[in-house]
Amino acid sequence: MQQISRLLDANRNWAKEMVEKDPEFFQRLVHIQRPDYLWIGCSDSRVPPDQITQTKPGEIFIHRNVANLVIHTDMNLLSVLQYAVEVLEVKHVIVCGHYGCGGVKAAMTRHHYGLINKWLRHIKDVYRFHQKELDAIKDEMQRLNRLIELNIIEQVYHLGDTSIVQRAWKKRNSPTLHGWVYELADGIIRPLIEIQPGSHLDHPIYEFDDLEV
Ligand code: CO
Repeated sequence: MQQISRLLDANRNWAKEMVEKDPEFFQRLVHIQRPDYLWIGCSDSRVPPDQITQTKPGEIFIHRNVANLVIHTDMNLLSVLQYAVEVLEVKHVIVCGHYGCGGVKAAMTRHHYGLINKWLRHIKDVYRFHQKELDAIKDEMQRLNRLIELNIIEQVYHLGDTSIVQRAWKKRNSPTLHGWVYELADGIIRPLIEIQPGSHLDHPIYEFDDLEV
C-alpha cells in the first residue's frame, strides 16, 4: 500500500508546485491541447518521453508499445496517428527507440515467449530484410544495436506508407517524420533518419496515387 500511495502523494505535491509556479497552468490546459509532436516510443520505463525531451503537459502526444512498432493493422496506433495528424495537425511524428531494447533483443532469439512472440515477429521480419548486413556484424551487442536502429528506420517508413500521412502531406505539406535512438547509458537522443513531406518512400508500391484530400 505504501508503494502505491507514493505515486499519489507525489502527484499532489507536483500539482501544488505547478500551481505555485504558474497559477493558471492547469486552467489553460483544460479546454485545449495543441501539441506539435506525436511521439511513438518503447514502453520501457527508462525512456520517459516528456522527461528526456523536457516537454511540458500539452506539448507532446504520446503512443508507446513494446519496441516502438508501427504496424498497419494496429488499430490502437492507427487511431492515435489519425487523431494526431488529422485533428491535432502535429508538425512532427517521431519514432524513438533505444539501445538495449528488450523487445528487439527477444526478437533476435528463437525462444518462444508466449503471446508477445506474435508482436515481436514484426522485428524478426526487419532482421530478415537486413540479414546480410546484420550477419556480417560479428559482435553480438553491435549487431543488436544495429537491428535496433534498422527497426526504428523501418517503422518511420511504415508511417510514410499510411494513407493518413500521405493524405496530410498532400493536404498541408506536413508532418515531417523522424527516427531517433536513445542511449540509456548517457541519456542522449541520436537522430537516425528524417523524411520530409512528399518524399518518395522506401518502395513505390506503398505510394497511393488517388488519395482524395
Ligand atoms: Co524497448
